Amino acid sequence: MNTMSISRRKFAQLLGISAATVVVRPPVSFAKPTQSVTTPLAEDGGIVRLSANENPYGPCPKALQAMTDSFGLACRYPDEHNNVLIDKLAKLNGVNHDQILLGDGSGEILKLCAETFTGPQNGKLVAADPTFEAILNNASANGAEVVKVPLTSSFAHDLPKMLAVAKGGLIYVCNPNNPTASITPKDELRDFVAKTPRETMILADEAYFHFADSPDYESVIPLVKEHPNLIVSRTFSKIYGMAGLRCGYCVAPKETIERMRQQQMWDSVNCMALAAATASLDDPDHVPNGQRLNKEAKQFTTSELEKMGYKSIPSQANFIMFDCRRPVVPIIKAMKDRNIHVGRLFPALPNHMRLTIGKKSEMESFLSAFRQAIA
Ligand SMILES: Cc1ncc(COP(=O)(O)O)c(C=O)c1O
Repeated sequence: MNTMSISRRKFAQLLGISAATVVVRPPVSFAKPTQSVTTPLAEDGGIVRLSANENPYGPCPKALQAMTDSFGLACRYPDEHNNVLIDKLAKLNGVNHDQILLGDGSGEILKLCAETFTGPQNGKLVAADPTFEAILNNASANGAEVVKVPLTSSFAHDLPKMLAVAKGGLIYVCNPNNPTASITPKDELRDFVAKTPRETMILADEAYFHFADSPDYESVIPLVKEHPNLIVSRTFSKIYGMAGLRCGYCVAPKETIERMRQQQMWDSVNCMALAAATASLDDPDHVPNGQRLNKEAKQFTTSELEKMGYKSIPSQANFIMFDCRRPVVPIIKAMKDRNIHVGRLFPALPNHMRLTIGKKSEMESFLSAFRQAIA
């Protein structure tokens, strides 16, 4: 497609993978990550955004540097350069290069799954209620029937019921689940994957994988080898702090990847996102630091809420969902009036608020506004 593309080796060099230094670098200075992503607090008249499960700390310094270094590639199509990232992801996940498909955020992967595996020809989508709605909209737009199965009383996916209503098509399992931040236990999930007939596809969405530390949680990526109907999606938007850059991927059998690729726009992941994602995987500190900071701010927030009598669903993600003990919609509005943006209404849980865990200072702003809003 692009005959003038820079070689894969050169792209790797630009990302700092090779020891060689390549001079395609404009003399650009960039802000320290904490400066570049600082969110103004509500007290300063700024908006505190705790509504989209983003990572307030942003990309790691290596990713910022890699983007700066790759400005010179902005005139080139990404083409084969995505192979550098695919190679790394294949190695990280113990699969072959042809078992990875990159997406313009994992949202693109979800959309491709809906387009490839649901619809009048392929069958219905079965999903939990509540869950992340994007794929439900994609499947409906594709002409598919969408069946919602309520979560269990412990906010896990009701996998036996989901399997009972599925026939062909696609079952979407969001684990940890958005908006409840809850997990579906690993034994139940393994059993479900083993029992699901091959003609029914399973998409396990592991966008929040890095925030789950329960012994009852595990990724199902290792199961892809034995189960040709399994697809697992991941994103760089959460722990890697790249929501605005747009990069996600899935792990699946080669044949599945080929079918999905037919629906995909060429070159859908841009070169800045590729550079940042590739460099992020080389930073050994970014993930544990992000996990620690999130956990600390989460513990602080849930214990303060608990002191006020508000109970959260045990969270295995970078957000919490707690019971406001009254309709949440007026509280969402009252918070917005105080410049604190929190999660939207999820109709299956009309008294619950979904709250993204930001920096501790942001959570302090949230708590003081929440106290006023409910007074
Ligand atoms: C469960 C889940 N999956 C997928 C996405 C899409 O993320 P992205 O397209 O940024 O990778 C989100 C975004 O919040 C999400 O919560």
